Amino acid sequence: MSRAAYVNGRYVLHRDAMVHIEDRGYQFADGVYEVCEVFRGALIDERRHFERLAYSLAELQIAPPVPARALAVVVREVMARNRVENGFVYVQVTRGVAPRDHVFPQKPARPSLVVTARHVDPEKSDITARKGISIITTPDLRWKRADIKTISLLPNVLARQLARESGACEAWLVDSLGMVTEGAASNAWIISKAGVVVTRQLDHSILRGITRTTLIEIVAAEGLKLEERKFNLEEVFAAREAFITGATTLIMPVVRIDGRAIGAGIPGPVASKLRAMFHAAAAARSS
Ligand code: PDD
Repeated sequence: MSRAAYVNGRYVLHRDAMVHIEDRGYQFADGVYEVCEVFRGALIDERRHFERLAYSLAELQIAPPVPARALAVVVREVMARNRVENGFVYVQVTRGVAPRDHVFPQKPARPSLVVTARHVDPEKSDITARKGISIITTPDLRWKRADIKTISLLPNVLARQLARESGACEAWLVDSLGMVTEGAASNAWIISKAGVVVTRQLDHSILRGITRTTLIEIVAAEGLKLEERKFNLEEVFAAREAFITGATTLIMPVVRIDGRAIGAGIPGPVASKLRAMFHAAAAARSS
């Protein structure tokens, strides 16, 4: 079966899908994106992903390329054309095509919209979660608006590459004060020595992860104590558990950080339980 993609109003063969060389996404990384999980045919937390897309666009003064309802139709069509029952949908919007100039185009360009979908077997992620992952830490080199889900991801790319070269799966980014912000493509969590679920508070230094938002609801419903605050590496190494959250990883236990075991060095009971609860909670919310 050939893969299909949506590009600016047309469904095209994935291998032929193209945008112009003067697309501002290509030249300036002037655009935003979303990654949404597809599980058993359903888009997990679709509404929240679309709301965050609208937020990112508004912060960068990019007009929505199509109304939200039309985008929902396109996303489903791309899923259907690629027969994606489990996997991910990728949505990217850029400011559009215009002669290269840093300032916004005087005559507003038509924002570019690209949608792709990819099948991934969810069992693969479950197998990884049963073992837990290793991560590294590295300085957070990003700009000061990490709350916008921009396609400008070079510091994230370099951090993930460093993780790969170190035999790890993810990198936790550490700010100039020695506090963990988030992962290169995930939010960062610990279960503290005192048994409290801790993740950094929302501000411009991290992305408002959709998995994070949903997990906070689950944590509250479970009666677990949650603190949204900064934490440093000393606290991380003393933690009972650590884990990351994201659309592509869900709740993924972390067992080693910079080569040091976290807790017992195996996936923690709280992270594993929260992971097991995640899809049921998401399904209950969208029904
Ligand atoms: N990344 N923080 C960063 C920097 C991210 O890139 C992501 C997601 C998250 C988690 O957000 P969510 O729970 O909404 O997926 C946090 C996606 C998956 C990516 O870039 O592929």
